[in-house]
Amino acid sequence: MSLLTRPAFAASALPQLVDALVEQGWFIGEGFLDAELCHDLHRELMEMAEREALAVAGIGRGDEHQLRRDIRGDAIRWLDRESLAQRRYLEAMGELQRELNQALYLGLFEYEAHFAHYPPGAFYKKHLDSFRGRANRVVSTVGYLNPDWPADGGGEMAIFAADDPEREVARVRPEAGNFACFLSENVPHEVLPTRLPRASIAGWFRRNASLGGLVDPAR
Ligand code: OGA
Ligand code: MN
Repeated sequence: MSLLTRPAFAASALPQLVDALVEQGWFIGEGFLDAELCHDLHRELMEMAEREALAVAGIGRGDEHQLRRDIRGDAIRWLDRESLAQRRYLEAMGELQRELNQALYLGLFEYEAHFAHYPPGAFYKKHLDSFRGRANRVVSTVGYLNPDWPADGGGEMAIFAADDPEREVARVRPEAGNFACFLSENVPHEVLPTRLPRASIAGWFRRNASLGGLVDPAR
């Protein structure tokens, strides 16, 4: 199969993903993403890191945005469809969006995603991706890009129980091909300190949060 037509993930994995989201609020797929796509995205991110094209990530939106190295230490760049690899990834997430809307009536209307580069020592403390009440991020996704991640590389994402944020229920290694997906409002998660440079793409399916004629604020 040619590079252009090879799917970014196996459609046969989708029913399992949907069931896991319904039953436990999160899904982890090992080897879920196409290896060659991960390779291309990884190279693109590493090149951005080298030419300092990444921005230090902050927390909070709009006026509340602030840099907090004690909370998160990654540097990011939003996907902008510039490369074929980015377009393939976003295309695949569009397919996932259609599937989630069909199976779960989630009304997802938009997807945003950024590359994230965690230098050695960086982490992201336990958090939720969306706050109840101001909810517009509905489903979070994370795709991992690091080839041959060693057992002692650190940088795992730990997932905690929605009804007990102290109880860890799963851990995903940032190995290329691994993919995680969870309910943004309910599932606490954290990136453990990484020992090696760590590459991922974090993304969010959103619902339109306009209220009383106010448009959704810029990110
Ligand atoms: C995030 C996040 C997890 C990861 O960016 O909100 O939780 O494993 N990322 O990169
Ligand atoms: Mn998060």
